[in-house]
Amino acid sequence: MNYPYQIKNLEEYKAAYTKSVKEPENFWAEVAENFVWKKKWDSVLEWNFSEPSIKWFKGGKLNITENCLDRHLATNANTPAIIWESNDPEEHHRVLTYKELHFKVCQFANVLKNNGVKKGDRVCIYMGMIPELSIATLACARIGAIHSVIFGGFSAQAISDRLQDAHAEYIVTCDGGFRGTKDIPLKSVIDDALIACPFVKRVIVCTRTRTAVSMIKGRDVWWEDEIKKVETQGNPACPAEEMDAEDALFILYTSGSTGKPKGVVHTCAGYMVWTNYTFVNVFQYKPGQVHFCTADIGWITGHSYIVYGPLSAGATSLMFEGIPTYPDAGRFWDVVDKFKVNILYTAPTAIRSLMSFGLDTVNNKDLSSLQVLGSVGEPINEEAWQWYYKNIGKEKCPVVDTWWQTETGGILISNLAGVTPHKPSFATLPLPGVQPCLVDESGKEIEGNGVSGNLCIKFPWPGIIRTTYNDHERCRQTYFSTYKGLYFTGDGCLRDEEGNYRITGRVDDVLNVSGHRIGTAELENAINMHSGVIESAIVGYPHDIKGQGIYAYVIYDGTHDHNLTRKDIAQTVTHIIGAIAKPDKIQFVTGLPKTRSGKIMRRILRKIAEGDTGNLGDTSTLLDPTLVDVIKEGAL
Ligand code: WTA
Repeated sequence: MNYPYQIKNLEEYKAAYTKSVKEPENFWAEVAENFVWKKKWDSVLEWNFSEPSIKWFKGGKLNITENCLDRHLATNANTPAIIWESNDPEEHHRVLTYKELHFKVCQFANVLKNNGVKKGDRVCIYMGMIPELSIATLACARIGAIHSVIFGGFSAQAISDRLQDAHAEYIVTCDGGFRGTKDIPLKSVIDDALIACPFVKRVIVCTRTRTAVSMIKGRDVWWEDEIKKVETQGNPACPAEEMDAEDALFILYTSGSTGKPKGVVHTCAGYMVWTNYTFVNVFQYKPGQVHFCTADIGWITGHSYIVYGPLSAGATSLMFEGIPTYPDAGRFWDVVDKFKVNILYTAPTAIRSLMSFGLDTVNNKDLSSLQVLGSVGEPINEEAWQWYYKNIGKEKCPVVDTWWQTETGGILISNLAGVTPHKPSFATLPLPGVQPCLVDESGKEIEGNGVSGNLCIKFPWPGIIRTTYNDHERCRQTYFSTYKGLYFTGDGCLRDEEGNYRITGRVDDVLNVSGHRIGTAELENAINMHSGVIESAIVGYPHDIKGQGIYAYVIYDGTHDHNLTRKDIAQTVTHIIGAIAKPDKIQFVTGLPKTRSGKIMRRILRKIAEGDTGNLGDTSTLLDPTLVDVIKEGAL
């Protein structure tokens, strides 16, 4: 496959960027020409940010799986689409060519149809990182069902909330999932989640761990048995459903600054164009290369840069079931060596964690196949950047620091590998189509260079969020109402003298822990559910490996031993959200610093958690200023 829209040098980048701003419709029409459409669009873009209402390629008809699978069959049928590496290094890896993946997706799409799934139905996918997860995802897209993949680390309660919000009547899961030494009982978690979801009609269970599972008659069926049924039907073809450009492709839940996670909705055409365009340009993908994105498909990074971006480009996407430290801290490097990986895309938290194991597990591996390194999910500190560049890329691979969000569908700000310069800890320049701006608290744009402010985007790009599922007003309020006429990212940002962007972190009440977004309100709600807890406040603090750690201040009315109570609270959080949201530190307090109007002064709590108690700023507006000294003394 060739990519006529792949930018080859700095001049081309500048020209493409200028054109994308001056003539956005012509620019994106030219890119979109390179995809397979069942019917061409009537208009390229109609939008306003006030409702918001954003329509890309309106009137166009397509199916994303024809772009990810069918179109590659003529010339690339035998190219590996997915290479899968097991958690267990002794287990044989799997390779699915485009032909095989196409066959399996059609086969499973027929399974979904046989089980009653129709266009527009929501299907929840809760599986480990095995090829069947990609197959299930694409099979939904094939028949126009809306997939909602839930990360395997979320608890039954968290799944149940999401199932109810999406009213998902169909579930695809596994008996269990392997991650390092753990065997996660996925089906059993689903069973618990379903106690509160009697509307679920069917659970399709794929065998992975052979853990004992309870299969409920009339509701639960085995993936393998259902495949056999399709085989006895003679494996009929599964034509790709005709989808409108703006039909929903998937829902992905993400945490925000308010209590309940929201279902970010992406639509078929814009998301396809955006993930493909950014994949091809940021990573400078060349046919034949092996692309290894270490994220989980339960997060947006996996959706966009394991599944849709690479496959729509006919690339070879490596999918890894395990974790970076199993069986030892050299596992990523083993995988790179074994499959001659050319592009490695991972998170700063993984880099920092692997750095701490030293170079013994790096230096005995052949990493010479690597050509591009990528970073995503949180700001990458200079030390981690240098380590990655020197020891993994051997100073010959550009590092792309890619800034984006679940809501943006794909990368918005990043250097293009080897095409535009990299700069440690800077995401650098916006992609064509992306018009960033910095604003002050009052919403006034801060112009010029060498400035910082809150990061907003002025103009829609094809991959932008369209709505939050079933609650459009929430989408408007969260992203489009803080600053009139702008999409607000929630991130703070600095623009240097050359116009390079550096993301400094969230400015709202969202934490980024090991690259995972955790809403403080959601976490406080979970902690407050623990009996004896009267009130709590969560803030982040700098953490060497995780980027941010979770610090909880808890008012607790109980006589139990504090250490035990800490464990109980952690258990409650694991139960309500999942282990990823467990607090790192829990300080028991008698009260929280509040203003006279009852608002918690988080600024003060943040400073105490950071150990920066020298100057806490103005505390005179507090209801009880003496409380601050008591909290300071008890700080952990
Ligand atoms: C943060 C992950 C700095 C940021 C793709 C954003 C980053 C949030 C970077 C979105 C980066 C992501 N540099 N910060 N390169 N990439 N972030 O939705 O705070 O899980 O708002 O999407 O991660 O997290 P999400």
